[in-house]
Amino acid sequence: MSVERTTIPVLEVMGLRKSFGGGGDRPALDGVDLRVEDSEVVAVLGPSGSGKSTLVRCIDQLESIDGGAMYLDGELLGYEVHGSHIRPLRDVDVQRQRRRMGMVFQQFNLFPHWTVLRNITEAPITVHGVPPAEAKQRAMDLLERVGLADKANAHPRQLSGGQQQRVAIARAVAANPRVLLFDEPTSSLDPELVDEVLQVIKDLAVSGMTMVVVTHEMAFARSVADRCVFMAEGKVIEDRPAQEFFESPRSTRLQTFLTRTAQTETPPR
Ligand SMILES: Nc1ncnc2c1ncn2[C@@H]1O[C@H](COP(=O)(O)OP(=O)(O)OP(=O)(O)O)[C@@H](O)[C@H]1O
Ligand SMILES: [Mg+2]
Repeated sequence: MSVERTTIPVLEVMGLRKSFGGGGDRPALDGVDLRVEDSEVVAVLGPSGSGKSTLVRCIDQLESIDGGAMYLDGELLGYEVHGSHIRPLRDVDVQRQRRRMGMVFQQFNLFPHWTVLRNITEAPITVHGVPPAEAKQRAMDLLERVGLADKANAHPRQLSGGQQQRVAIARAVAANPRVLLFDEPTSSLDPELVDEVLQVIKDLAVSGMTMVVVTHEMAFARSVADRCVFMAEGKVIEDRPAQEFFESPRSTRLQTFLTRTAQTETPPR
């Protein structure tokens, strides 16, 4: 009996392929499938070089793709179909699609010469056409949510790494994205600053934000993600509900990965 799917996923990646060239190198992404439902949190785990960053960068259209297809709320990303032809979207249309996603990088990428407030309000005002007073009010609400209301007029250099990352998250949320993509949001932070950023991401999960989080934080993935995806050599090796993923990994590769990371992981803070 076939099971009929009644909902369109927020994000669907089908058979995604990506190579960076370089002769006989294996592809960075070798036929990746990923489905993310509304309000779902998906953690992406895997060894260095397995294609995690490439995956989220392709979804955010920061990289071109070599094959497969991606859909946001059912809309094909990056291409349009004309009869029997498929052609790349114009830049303006790519930008329109990108505005419906938020990306948070390892390096916060805040504008150093702007205040925290302006970092958050700039895109809503200039790109999304939100009236300045409304954008400011929303930014202040978001800063409150990430515990930084008192830093609205500070400059990024006056903030700790953890605080800068919380501002970067507030900035991504300010655009009302359909999905938030994180690429190792805590990897460049001093250990004592990791928890405050993970807590903000946890709060977003509770609020129903749809998220794809590339992370090395196993305890976080286990407690916050609905599903965990394990990648190796450009392929998805396992894609399972978080609890099963950690308690009964099927593949030897994931078993080995979990054992290794458990040995090297810092104790819970
Ligand atoms: N801009 C690039 N040019 C050439 N090769 C690249 C580029 N970006 C990534 N790659 C290659 O693609 C593969 C996947 O890299 P990717 O950065 O996606 O891995 P990752 O899983 O994010 O690793 P890490 O955990 O170290 O961040 C690697 O072999 C990498 O060397
Ligand atoms: Mg990476």
